[in-house]
Order: sequence, then C-alpha cells, then structure tokens
Amino acid sequence: MGVYAVTGSASGMGLEVVEKLRAQGNTVIGVDIREADVVADLSTSTGRASAISAVLDACGGRLDGAVLAAGLGPSPGKDRLQMIAEVNYLGVVELLEGWQPALAAAESAKVVVFSSNSTTTVPAVPARTLKAYRDRDIEKVLKSIRIFGKSAPAIAYAGSKIAVSRWVRRTAVTANWAGRGIRLNAIAPGAILTPLLEEQLSTPAEAKAIRSFPVPIGGFGDAGQLADWVIFMLSDAASFLCGSVVFVDGGSDAYFRADDW
Ligand code: NAI
Repeated sequence: MGVYAVTGSASGMGLEVVEKLRAQGNTVIGVDIREADVVADLSTSTGRASAISAVLDACGGRLDGAVLAAGLGPSPGKDRLQMIAEVNYLGVVELLEGWQPALAAAESAKVVVFSSNSTTTVPAVPARTLKAYRDRDIEKVLKSIRIFGKSAPAIAYAGSKIAVSRWVRRTAVTANWAGRGIRLNAIAPGAILTPLLEEQLSTPAEAKAIRSFPVPIGGFGDAGQLADWVIFMLSDAASFLCGSVVFVDGGSDAYFRADDW
C-alpha cells in the first residue's frame, strides 16, 4: 500500500479518487481549499507553497503517487480568470515540482494530472496565451484573453489545460522524471457530472452550449468511472505509460479531429 497526495480532494473526481485509494488501503493526503487534510488556497503563491511543504511533512519524504484534480471551470465570476490560471496551471506545475524529490524517493511513483478535452475542442486559444502560461506570467495570460469578453473564461480554461498538458508531456520524458522512475501522465475528461459541471449548467447560456456540444455516445460522464481510470493510471499496469494524455470523453475529441493527430 502507498502514500498518495490528491488535490481537489473535497469534491467531484478528486473526492472519488480519494475514496477509491483509501478503500484499497492506501494513505491519502487530501489537499483542497476546504474539508481536507491540507487546507490551502492554490490560487495564491503562499497557498501553493504551504501545500508543498505540508504534504512533504505529512508523507515523510516519500510519495508513491499524486493526483492533481483541483481546478475551476470556465464559469463567469469575480477574479475568475486569474483563479483559473493560478489553480489549473500553477496549482499543478508548482506542486509537482515541489513534490518531485518525494516522488523520486518512491522509485516507481505514478502521477495523474487532470487535463480536459477542451484542449482539442475549444478553438482559437492564442499562441501568446500559451506562451504566457509557459513563462508562468499570469498578468500576460490575463492581458492576452481580455479581448474575448464573455468567452474569456473558456479561453483561460482551455489555455490552462493545453499548457498543463504540454508541461506534462515535456516534463514526463526528462531524466528527473522518467529517469527517476516517475510516470507522469494526464487524463482529459469530457463533460462529467460533478459540482464543476453543475455550476456551468446553472447558467442558461452555458447550459445550452454544453447540451448542444457533440458527444457521440451522448450524455455526461460519471465521476466514479473517471476515478477508476485514474486508479488504473496509478497502478503497476500503467508502468509503460509516460507523457500520455488519455481522453475519456464519450468520443468528442475523435469527432472533432479524427484525422488530426
Ligand atoms: P469539482 O468542482 O467537483 O472539484 C474541484 C475541486 O477543486 C473542489 O474540491 C474545489 O474546492 C477545489 N478547488 C477549487 N479551487 C481551489 C483552490 N483555489 N485551492 C484549492 N482547491 C481548490 O470539479 P471536478 O469536475 O471534479 O474537476 C476535477 C478536475 O477535472 C478539474 O481540474 C477540472 O478542470 C477537470 N475537468 C472537469 C470536467 C468536468 O466536466 N467536470 C471536464 C474536464 C476536466
């Protein structure tokens, strides 16, 4: 049995992962802004720093795996663009860089980052937005998306998920990660019925857009099923999986880009 850190542990897919890991007999250190072993606000640099050190203290310097599920959806709201950028991007890359020594100490750690199928289904995320994410320049991210008006949250969100997926792919194959036995991968869900999606469905315009979005198998995904994918990606069976982005989205990604990969 192992020791795992899970962000976004209080709700949705993160909570399902925590329950399944604990049911297997593992120790889980949950990180969230509320109701967690480590309460930290990942939208601030001090919150991210405290999440890094509190988990390192709690795990005793060795982590068998980590799941980065904390995230905000593309709903409107005060300071929402900045929170999306900081939680969805910096809340993944800074934490994983901070936890890397503990993951390396386990010698065969597995990490799953929550991406999204918005990476391939939302058009028009500007290259300068992605460069700003890569440079970790949140001011520039915000400046680059303001022109999108009401669509800015969708662009900030898709940008955060593209940027974090690229970071996963770039980082996974390096000597410090693959070379230290760490398997770093991402899962890219489609619309999964969680509080995040329910928040979007509560706005009529967003609900209409979501319900008319092409999902070949129809309906919404189930949080428990997505968590089962994550559990598999943390298992020994996934030891040869490295730098992959696994789409579990009812066929939307295939629908939009069957020949574009
Ligand atoms: P959720 O809203 O149920 O859970 C997200 C968790 O993140 C919550 O427990 C929340 O408290 C935490 N969180 C939010 N802001 C935080 C902050 N500042 N500091 C610390 N924790 C914070 O959402 P869900 O749907 O389970 O999402 C999990 C991941 O999956 C997210 O990264 C999301 O972007 C991604 N995703 C979700 C999809 C969906 O349709 N539900 C589709 C594609 C990706």
